[in-house]
Amino acid sequence: MEEERTMTDITKQATVQVKGIVNAPIEDVWKLYRPFGEMTQWWHIYKTMELAPPAEDKVGAIRTFSFKDRNMTISEQLISRDDTTHTLEYKMIKMEPSIPGLDGITTRVQMRSISAVQTEITWCNWVMAPSVVCSMIKAPQAQGYRDGITALNRFFNPSLGKVIVTLASIKDLPHSFPPVNPYVIVELDGENHQTAKPNFPYSSTFNDTFEFELLSRKGSLGFGVMDSCLGSDSLIGTVSLDLHDFENDKPKTLELALDQGASISVTIEMELNNDIDALPLTDKQQQFVSLKEMSDTINGVKDKLQKIVLNLLVEEKPRWEYDSYPVHPMPKMVKGLPRSQALSPHKLSRMGERVLEFSFSELELKQRLAEYPAGSLKAYGAFFGGYLPVPELLESWQDDSEFCRQLIQGLNPLMIEAVNSIEQVPEAMRELEAQGKGMSELIADKRLFLVDYKELAPFKCEDGKFFYAPYLLVYKQQLANNDTRLNVVAIQLERNEGINPIYTPDSNQPNRFMFAKIHVQCADNQIHQFLYHLGLAHLAIESMAIATHNSLPKEHIISKLLTPHFQDTIGINFLARQTLVAEQGAITQSTFALGTAQGVQMVSNGWKTYDFFKSSFPEQLKARGFDEEMSDGLQGYYYREDGYLIWNAIGNYTSNTVKSAYSDDAAVLADPAVQAWAKELADPDMGAMPGFPAEINSLELLSHTLQTIIWMGSAFHSAINFPQFPYTAVALNRPATLAKKMPEGEQDISAKYIAAALPNQKNAAFQCLLSWMLAMPSETSLANLDPLENDHPEISQAFAAEMKQISEKIHARNKQLSAAGKPDYSYLLPENIAASINI
Ligand SMILES: [Fe+2]
Repeated sequence: MEEERTMTDITKQATVQVKGIVNAPIEDVWKLYRPFGEMTQWWHIYKTMELAPPAEDKVGAIRTFSFKDRNMTISEQLISRDDTTHTLEYKMIKMEPSIPGLDGITTRVQMRSISAVQTEITWCNWVMAPSVVCSMIKAPQAQGYRDGITALNRFFNPSLGKVIVTLASIKDLPHSFPPVNPYVIVELDGENHQTAKPNFPYSSTFNDTFEFELLSRKGSLGFGVMDSCLGSDSLIGTVSLDLHDFENDKPKTLELALDQGASISVTIEMELNNDIDALPLTDKQQQFVSLKEMSDTINGVKDKLQKIVLNLLVEEKPRWEYDSYPVHPMPKMVKGLPRSQALSPHKLSRMGERVLEFSFSELELKQRLAEYPAGSLKAYGAFFGGYLPVPELLESWQDDSEFCRQLIQGLNPLMIEAVNSIEQVPEAMRELEAQGKGMSELIADKRLFLVDYKELAPFKCEDGKFFYAPYLLVYKQQLANNDTRLNVVAIQLERNEGINPIYTPDSNQPNRFMFAKIHVQCADNQIHQFLYHLGLAHLAIESMAIATHNSLPKEHIISKLLTPHFQDTIGINFLARQTLVAEQGAITQSTFALGTAQGVQMVSNGWKTYDFFKSSFPEQLKARGFDEEMSDGLQGYYYREDGYLIWNAIGNYTSNTVKSAYSDDAAVLADPAVQAWAKELADPDMGAMPGFPAEINSLELLSHTLQTIIWMGSAFHSAINFPQFPYTAVALNRPATLAKKMPEGEQDISAKYIAAALPNQKNAAFQCLLSWMLAMPSETSLANLDPLENDHPEISQAFAAEMKQISEKIHARNKQLSAAGKPDYSYLLPENIAASINI
């Protein structure tokens, strides 16, 4: 302790004593308050403050300060300071102009820790002056100390905005004698105001308006109704309001009920800063809500699973009936759930195990979250641990090149297209450059690519969820050693008639650019999950499973060939229809920006132009400007490279099978089962598969048809499903929804704004759970497929041998990638390709 003897006997009762709370840990408050000559940083009433020479901050030091709003200079000397009791004492040694009769003031400030985040300040003084002088300066001194405590609190808790409280009246106070003479005290974050004491008892009208600074996220606005009595006033009743129930700029008038039937009429208005719509929950409230919502989500999934097993099975019939979605057109589905298609207890228990793995991993979520500073984006890492591996993307998701890499090696490799003419480039981007080259030069060099999220353009944002239908322009960046990678030229989020803002990586608005990338990922997520994954994989293949069951006898070679590729598809689709895209209470309604109805509508829109053969692997690539020979010059498109290995192997497999079963084209045409199967699938009242041949008249057409179906049921779905974990597990990388749009204006946006837009803990937990569940490995893969083992062992063995070769080739490539420090691509390894759409 530093100490110097003081002239004042401070054991006597203080002249002025003020107590107040600062919402910060005592160490932080003391550290700020402790330096004797440095109060200007947190208390803005001072014009100047400096220590007298030698300007050493120790006991005996003298500080002199002046004020902004009054012409007065005061000098004070530090007389003691104790870091263990958090006490500081000083005395006034000079005041100009002086107050006659005032001989001195000794002041003590003491701090006491109330909790880990709250400090109580006691600020008192002893005035050496005649009592008349003491009583004159007592009130302004007390107010000054209260202001000091408020200033400290404000420093640690910057204002979140304003709360304007208008007290209209009190009604129906109990009759008594003498009559009640009420007034009201209003308190928020340690600051309080009170109405004047009225002259007319019983029913009092005030119409007083008070303005508060909102300093904490606690949001508790308190009212105390007092009775002004002779002697000391007495408390009639208290009531408090939670400001989390109010929205920004939306005043609400309420009758607040007190005990004994009385009520006060108040109007509350909030003017929050930082573009927020409502007072954010405190960290504790947020954690509580999130954990509860997360367990509700998990329980919801479990309940649905149970319900389906217990209630929704229909009896097995020789022919399964087709059913239609309420939205048209859509892929056909089976009516009810045939008993044979219900997911087995083994399958359901594996899915349940996945949910449990997630739940167990999240048991320590709260503790892990506490390790991150509030509002930190790194806090999304808290979801991983335990059974869930930590994705590398937690570190790299912000990199532009990683963002672009995902277009060709990530969860959705189906969007990117080669740019072959300047007309393909959105107008607002045509003057841009990359690596010193204009757009035309990049096109000529086959270095320009576009991602056009046009499928989202017809839809509207609703329920505080925001998405765009962006354009993303990327180029092939030349690196040293002849290496290349994709990188961003620009992003355009909107499709206005007039001006459309463009976001580029080198702009002086880095946060706007980052937010634009996040919106692109959110848009990509909508199209990937609804259109490609649900619509053009899961739902599209269902009618083929139905027609195969209905028209092909079990012992038919084509039935044997195809059946493993429909295993569990109807069961899993049924589950999705009861949960993810149910007509009532669908999980995707609140968790996806697009919402369920619009998501299903996007599938329907896609189905309008769907064509069976155009959905084949090579045709999908060709439509976007890519081929097997890589004439487009794009390197690292492993979905394309590995996909061709698999596609061709499936082609050999189906061709061998068809040739073994039929001697020539005429024999195919003469097979009534195959013809009935094709007819059923093409029939608009049954399979209704657009572009499916109603008649199969050649070996080649049958082989190509089977190749297309097997690709769709195996590799296509696997490539766009199993990378769910890690890509969507990290909500930062692919948010399913965003709570904010890009604000207008030229200024950059804050990191806080982006954080507020990202999925909250409930939605982030949902993404994590869903991605973990959907990435559950299949027990049947293309590497262990053997449906023809007994009938045609040579075909089965040839396919297995080809799968083995492909596996070795991809493993060797991946080894090289790893050695070069690059991410590998394992999703089209035969052993990782699920034979059917079963998750
Ligand atoms: Fe799936």
